[in-house]
Amino acid sequence: MCSSPSAFAGPPDEPPAIEAEELVRQLASEGHLPPGDVEQRIREIRGALAATGTYRQSAAELLLGARIAWRNNPQCVGKFYWKALETRDCREVGLRGGDEAELFEALVEHLRLAWNGGRVRLLLSVFAPAGPERSGLRVWNGQLIRYAGYRQHDGTVVGDPETCELTDAVQQLGWRGEGTEFDVLPLVVQRPGRDPRWFDLPADAVPEVRITHPDYPWFEQLGLRWHAFPTISNQVLELGGLRYTLAPFSAWYTCTEIGARNLSDTNRYDKLPLVARGMGLDTGRDRTLWRDRALLELTAAVLHSYDQAGVSIIDHHFATKQFVRHEEREHRSGRTCPADWSAIVPATSGSTTAVWQRRYEPTRLRPNFTPQPAPWPEGGTGR
Ligand code: ARG
Repeated sequence: MCSSPSAFAGPPDEPPAIEAEELVRQLASEGHLPPGDVEQRIREIRGALAATGTYRQSAAELLLGARIAWRNNPQCVGKFYWKALETRDCREVGLRGGDEAELFEALVEHLRLAWNGGRVRLLLSVFAPAGPERSGLRVWNGQLIRYAGYRQHDGTVVGDPETCELTDAVQQLGWRGEGTEFDVLPLVVQRPGRDPRWFDLPADAVPEVRITHPDYPWFEQLGLRWHAFPTISNQVLELGGLRYTLAPFSAWYTCTEIGARNLSDTNRYDKLPLVARGMGLDTGRDRTLWRDRALLELTAAVLHSYDQAGVSIIDHHFATKQFVRHEEREHRSGRTCPADWSAIVPATSGSTTAVWQRRYEPTRLRPNFTPQPAPWPEGGTGR
């Protein structure tokens, strides 16, 4: 389990030292480190790498580096706010006699802090990085809050089809859900070389929003809901030669992520037929554009419901306008703006937004947030 090869093999002139040096120079070039301190800091890091195979980043390196990692990420339309990212230093959590329960508590605290009573914060909690001889800390969940997906005998899924594999895996660990469409999965926490442990999240750490529609009273009866904000927990923060394998990142939602993807994709909750029937649309023929009309009303319902509940959310027009402003600001600063067009253009009304006509290069810069493989043992989850 968790036997990904270490990024630290080899002498200190190997990638960690080179990447660390790059980071220090970048922070200096952006005005975060006096030029006179650069060589000294690089010597320090080289020394630590030679002696121990790893080094400890300063609080400033961690915070400013994480912000740049976000800025470099090509998948995110919300990067306009990169300078507002807050980091929480959890590097000591779960070490020195600490265990999975301590890690779990810190993750719950992350959710409470990010929630912030509905004014969702841009928050990254950074736990201890992988070491020279060991793979890193992991949670098995792709997001800290996600709904279970129960595969039925006839091949259909109750809940979120996205999490079927994880749901199988946690059931093999002994977890039992209630079997509803919106069962919150437990967190599965794993330390290197240890067995994973799962923990149910306390209700107050899982704020959710019930979806209602501003004009259709029947909408509420569909029983749709979603968690208040996303917290990506399966990406590794690659920073200055270190790999932070547990670094959950919370932000607010754009309404299309929920309305035009999570609740509507045919391989997710697939609710458009239900919405269209409520609207009295003819779903027998594509040409009635029932999908398009239902998609729009579902997205409008999401925006309305989050607003009513006092939970931060943005619409895709605002999000893409901010993205263009970000892009322009980056160019003025002499930087490129790496972006993946298909991730930046919203899932509905793409052509009505400012990013549609633009072209982007998904250049891979360091530091960055990158996906990591699912940590559960392969083949151990088939049922
Ligand atoms: N699309 C993912 C979801 O629906 C979340 C990705 C990150 N989104 C964000 N607004 N930070 O849960």
